[in-house]
Amino acid sequence: MAGRIPESFIDDLLARVDIVDVIQERIALKKSGRDWSARCPFHDERSASFTVSPTKQFYHCFGCGAHGSAIRFLMEYDRLEFPDAIEELAGRIGLKVVYEGGRRDAAPSSDTPDLYALLDSAAGYYQQELTRCPAALDYFERRGLNPDIIARFRLGYAADLWDGLKRFLGTSQQRLGLLEKGGMLIAGERGAPYDRFRDRVMFPIQDRRGRVIAFGGRVLGKDDGPKYLNSPETPLFHKGSELFALWQVRQAQQKLTRIIVVEGYMDVIALHQYGLPQAVATLGTATTREHAELLFRNCADVYFCFDGDRAGRQAAWRAVESVLPRMRDGRQAHFLFLPDGEDPDSLIRQEGVAGMEQRLQSATPLSQFFFAHQEADTNLRTADGRARLGERCKALISGIPEGTFRDRMQELLIEKTSLQWSLAGSLSPQMRERAEAMLNERVASLKQADEKDSVRHPISADTATAQRNSSGKRSLVRHAITALLQFPGFVELIAFPPAFRVLRQPGITLLVDMISLCRDRPGISTGAILEHFSTIPEAGALQRLAMSDLTGESEAVRSEFVDALKQLARQTLQQRIDDLLIEKAEAGLGETQMQELRGLLNSRNQPAT
Ligand code: UTP
Ligand code: MN
Repeated sequence: MAGRIPESFIDDLLARVDIVDVIQERIALKKSGRDWSARCPFHDERSASFTVSPTKQFYHCFGCGAHGSAIRFLMEYDRLEFPDAIEELAGRIGLKVVYEGGRRDAAPSSDTPDLYALLDSAAGYYQQELTRCPAALDYFERRGLNPDIIARFRLGYAADLWDGLKRFLGTSQQRLGLLEKGGMLIAGERGAPYDRFRDRVMFPIQDRRGRVIAFGGRVLGKDDGPKYLNSPETPLFHKGSELFALWQVRQAQQKLTRIIVVEGYMDVIALHQYGLPQAVATLGTATTREHAELLFRNCADVYFCFDGDRAGRQAAWRAVESVLPRMRDGRQAHFLFLPDGEDPDSLIRQEGVAGMEQRLQSATPLSQFFFAHQEADTNLRTADGRARLGERCKALISGIPEGTFRDRMQELLIEKTSLQWSLAGSLSPQMRERAEAMLNERVASLKQADEKDSVRHPISADTATAQRNSSGKRSLVRHAITALLQFPGFVELIAFPPAFRVLRQPGITLLVDMISLCRDRPGISTGAILEHFSTIPEAGALQRLAMSDLTGESEAVRSEFVDALKQLARQTLQQRIDDLLIEKAEAGLGETQMQELRGLLNSRNQPAT
């Protein structure tokens, strides 16, 4: 398939990046023994079940089971597609990604890389234009922006021309097409396409990797058209899932203690300039569930700022609706309502960081805003009013993920309505069924983990014929796979090709594949092996083996491994003897086969070497 990234490249890449660096840039890791640990970023917890192993080059959460290589981590945490995660890692170490038959993106389309490049050039062009336009420079100055912040946000200016950008970048049919696709040109009714942004100061919108994906443009002063014009939805830009300045926020701080969500570009920029580089903005849309998830993935404490007027409260309520289903334990949302006629931009200029801090500290917690909003038009003094409130809140609260926040909301509701409303009673039959199913699944997986050491089959659990080693606990194949997975360097101890490749036992093919892989890629890590086998049905089982404790010093493990190999070799011999004996019984052996059998029986009777 054209555009595939060869496995050898991925193996190579994983050999060169350090997963600890990659993860440490995103969450705080604490050293614990040989490994690193943290509270898991993929589920809410108070203890640190998340571990990163530098030797194995993979991460694992004992709480939720999340696991994988550096690639997997970027896909989960930064929410990147597979090729993008590869690009990101390769970029770190200055490696150019190899695509078989050239890059062909499955996601948006084949010219995506060109589109990114072109939008980046557009941002550069607008930045250049800004230096040439006194009126635009003057505008930013009047709004109090300093040169540093203008540079940090790559602010620019689109000249008052119908074809400024078009002439600068649309130098071929292909590029013209791309500009249109990227939302920078508008197709004329009959005539040629023309620049979408004209005579506006320009705010590039960057994705979470810092790539320019769209623009917002503001009129300089007067009345001309809408105050702000944004790029339309394009293959690169989906406003419902992007946040303005998230990139700058992540650049500014290693460890985010909070994120502030405001409404406007200028609000974000003013907050950053004045010393609150934790501000992001939705892009002229209500807060979506995707926004909520993205925000919480970056930080557990989110502050939403809204106008204090009716429209502001309405917008805040929409944010509540998006946030509730994302309120897993540990996450907190706060709502800050601003005085009439003010926005974060104007406030921070008047009150400074200290004033804004104070406002943030007295922000309304989600629970409080939730009930205040719901009670606004309910008469709680009447039973009827309480019942109505109960009904309205039940559905919303049952959408909150299970946990202390939901419990607390239910308590509050009971307090408010004095209605008996137990969790079980509030669930619809379907919800109850789902909850039960989830519980059963959880119990089953715990049981399975308990039985891990007594599972007979090395890889899948459905065959009872697997061989056991002398201790009777683990199969040889399973043991060999585990040891090799955890100590890929052991491959040197194996004669190649191993005789046991013909052994008819579950897991042998995988073991042999793994041996070949380790031979081909000296120095390969556990994480890279897991990545290599991540799409096979046994991937989950492999993951568990990678985690399982091999007791004893590596010397002991090594000699056990060598023992296992010897036993496998012996079993291979035995298998061949059995085959021949069966053949003999069925048909009688020819002279050569009889000779072989004699030889084999002979060698079996000698001590193994
Ligand atoms: P505001 O009008 O509150 O923006 O709109 P602002 O940042 O305070 O504007 P100025 O520059 O200080 O006057 C908030 C956001 O709503 C979107 C933009 O994303 C803007 O930043 N918006 C507003 C539009 O998309 N189009 C508009 O015409 C107005
Ligand atoms: Mn404003």
